[in-house]
Amino acid sequence: MRPLRDSDVVLGLESSCDETAAALLRADGTILAEAVLSQLEDHTPYGGVVPEIAARAHLAHLPGLVRRVMGEAGVGPGDLAAVAATAGPGLIGGLIVGATLGKGIALAAGVPYLGINHLEGHALTPRLPGVFAGGLQFPYLLMLLSGGHCQCVKVEGVGRHVRLGTTLDDAVGEAFDKSAKLMGLPWPGGPHLERLAASGDPTRFVLPRPLLGRPGCDFSFSGLKTAVANIVAKGVDEQGRADLAAGFQAAVAATLADRAAHALAMVPDATALVVAGGVAANQGIRAALTAVAGRAGLPLVAPPIRLCTDNAVMIAWAGIERLRAGLTEALDHAPRPRWPLSDLSVTPV
Ligand code: KG4
Ligand code: ZN
Repeated sequence: MRPLRDSDVVLGLESSCDETAAALLRADGTILAEAVLSQLEDHTPYGGVVPEIAARAHLAHLPGLVRRVMGEAGVGPGDLAAVAATAGPGLIGGLIVGATLGKGIALAAGVPYLGINHLEGHALTPRLPGVFAGGLQFPYLLMLLSGGHCQCVKVEGVGRHVRLGTTLDDAVGEAFDKSAKLMGLPWPGGPHLERLAASGDPTRFVLPRPLLGRPGCDFSFSGLKTAVANIVAKGVDEQGRADLAAGFQAAVAATLADRAAHALAMVPDATALVVAGGVAANQGIRAALTAVAGRAGLPLVAPPIRLCTDNAVMIAWAGIERLRAGLTEALDHAPRPRWPLSDLSVTPV
């Protein structure tokens, strides 16, 4: 494979959960075209993501999204330098759709295929020059806060990530969604809960702050959810729901801030604290983490929301970083529903 040039174009595909996405990126980080189709409406009647519905929706929509981004960018298959598709972790049906389409396009265009770890996609996003001036330098601390993932990760290099802590039970977005449901809010509850919290008094209900002050940076949210359930069971009026939402959000923000401070102490050479995942959209949580990063003399880097949540730009960019490191996959590379960040092929140090 010839070395990557800045003008080379990479196609990225994302289909690991309930967002169908395609993007075209130039190797210098310029986004030529991007498209995301949320399946929210397909899953809302069921109050959560239904894997079979997700897989069928990816199959129905991903080829059309690829045609759309290629049309918008004026790029044909012959202009591609590589194709990168999410190969895990995630729902196996969607992963098979994206990886198989990615391999097919790569084969037809005669270019390399990259099977990207979705978590590495989130982890490398702040290295996009448009997200952080010039691209963030390694190492940095990533807090991945989404509906499916809740981890503190030291990002040391391409393929080199150390998970410092994870959740012992629910992911933080899951805790938001379950608590919001208890408060009678629609799914996914995070944004609704944040809106409700704005008119609430966070001091009215004293909720647990799980693992606060404990060594390390693991998370636990099931006790907090149980506390919310117990209060709701006793009956709360409209103002009570707002107060409960505000109390819940304050407890989560305080816990995340404590965990982030512990994690930063474990990475003394970090260049920044980075947040990613849908929960990073929460302003209260961002403010708490900005304060923690500030105390360590570091910036809080939060990619724009569309690049924090699931998208294909991050998959194409991870592909570009991996191509630069000389890493590609063979066409028999199998998607992996479970694929820890610690299990990646790595750049020679
Ligand atoms: O990263 P994401 O879009 O999808 C994955 O889970 O992979 O994250 C979705 C999660 C949901 O749990 C949603 O409720 C939560 O992020 N979320 C929020 C907010 N916006 C989205 N949680 C709290 N506050 C928000 N503003
Ligand atoms: Zn994600």
